[in-house]
Amino acid sequence: MTLERFRDVDGFLEKAGEVSERLRKLIDEDKPFLILCHNDADGLSSGAIASVMLLRENARFVTRSVKSIEGVLESLKDLPEEYSVILTDIGSGYLDELSSLGRKEPIIILDHHEPLGSASENVIQLNPHDYGINGADEISGAGVTYLAAKALNEENVRLSPIAVIGALGDLQDRADGRRLHGLNELIVGDAVENGLMKVEEDLLFYGRSYKPLHVALASTTNPFIVGISGNEAHAYSLLTSIGIRVKEDDRWRVLSELSEDEKKALYNGIMKYLASLGLPPSIAKELIGKVYELVREEPWTYLRDAREFASLLNACGKTGNEWLGIAIAMGSRGGLLDEAQRVLEEYRRKMAEAMEYAMKEENRQELNSVLVIDGGNIIDDRLISSVASMLASTGVQGEDKVLVALTQSEDSIKVSARAPKKLVDAGLNLGKVLSKAAQLVGGRGGGHDVAAGANIPKTKKALFLLEIDRIISEEVQGLEKR
Ligand code: C5P
Ligand code: ZN
Repeated sequence: MTLERFRDVDGFLEKAGEVSERLRKLIDEDKPFLILCHNDADGLSSGAIASVMLLRENARFVTRSVKSIEGVLESLKDLPEEYSVILTDIGSGYLDELSSLGRKEPIIILDHHEPLGSASENVIQLNPHDYGINGADEISGAGVTYLAAKALNEENVRLSPIAVIGALGDLQDRADGRRLHGLNELIVGDAVENGLMKVEEDLLFYGRSYKPLHVALASTTNPFIVGISGNEAHAYSLLTSIGIRVKEDDRWRVLSELSEDEKKALYNGIMKYLASLGLPPSIAKELIGKVYELVREEPWTYLRDAREFASLLNACGKTGNEWLGIAIAMGSRGGLLDEAQRVLEEYRRKMAEAMEYAMKEENRQELNSVLVIDGGNIIDDRLISSVASMLASTGVQGEDKVLVALTQSEDSIKVSARAPKKLVDAGLNLGKVLSKAAQLVGGRGGGHDVAAGANIPKTKKALFLLEIDRIISEEVQGLEKR
């Protein structure tokens, strides 16, 4: 971009203060609240933060998670007029619809999606984009909610790790070296300063401190290593072929006990393996990064590593167990945690099946600017977003194509799209593309520059794909000319 983007962090934090004053007034008036949060990991984190925030103030509230804006509108249809509404990680893309409801009490939107439309007086929005801050990777919905909560009551600084989890759930660790940056870094700072988090650099294997090495490697799905992710036997062979000892006497070794030299050898071995498959070695780079460790959580649980905590929440959200995710993020443990861990294992099994289907040649279609992955009616519509993210992390779409994954839900087609870094850096905004293409076929879409989604009518698949391919091709040509 030729123009330096204006960036007003102070203005954004000031607005967080104003929103918190409005909240304070409503709480003081003993108004009831309905919190509606998005149902992905970031959404559940943000819903948990908003819930703890109101709980701490002894306010009256109900929390519910929603899949999409339709869920929001449905929930508001019969909501008594005295309720104020807090939308977290959802809402900014639908300002006109929300404003036209003409509710008596305010709708407070704490979101990081690109705002679309205009807000009426009673629709109050805290959104980083209004201040030149990129909501795609500088702050999450949970982060926005956290900053409002912290402005309301300094004690909410204890929720900073949940905001970090939300950011990781939305895959915002996109600065070099799998690091959070922008306002997210400020939130990480809050967590570290308050003795809630430790940040260090390592290989980002799933279960790095408690799973046997080959199991940890096979459990790693971001990046998804074709042939290794989801396959313990292949992971085992790869490790031994690199010359890494997998056992110490009779005990399985874990990643965190490998020496630096062993880790280097492992990393180089994975790079060579990827090259042998013709995949970009840059995928291996995604394996090294910052580990965000929640030091107050029990070791050996899925909650100690913020990325694993996020995948636990994601699993809850994608399997109809949103309440469980919100409860865990609010601090519940014990039996509920056992339950959530079962949900996670089951989810990982289903994802492995979905990925196997999605990777088959016959379910793939290459257009000019788009690689289409068609989940038919086989892939559960609640999994398609994770399938899209995982597939994009394999590098299969190359550097010049957008990955579009779609699958049939009960009454529509759910679309999830991911743009390669090169196109985003050149200025492509996938959220706008999806919004436009979906509208052309009578659907609804939106999202971020790098990750966006849509719902379209069942009969409009072919037309939608033609339109999205055309729009992206035109946009890319325009970008090249700039
Ligand atoms: O569903 P998926 O994860 O692919 O969506 C990517 C992003 O696009 C999410 O942040 C989601 O909130 C947003 N989205 C949207 N409108 C839709 C579908 C997705 O704003 N209809
Ligand atoms: Zn989000």
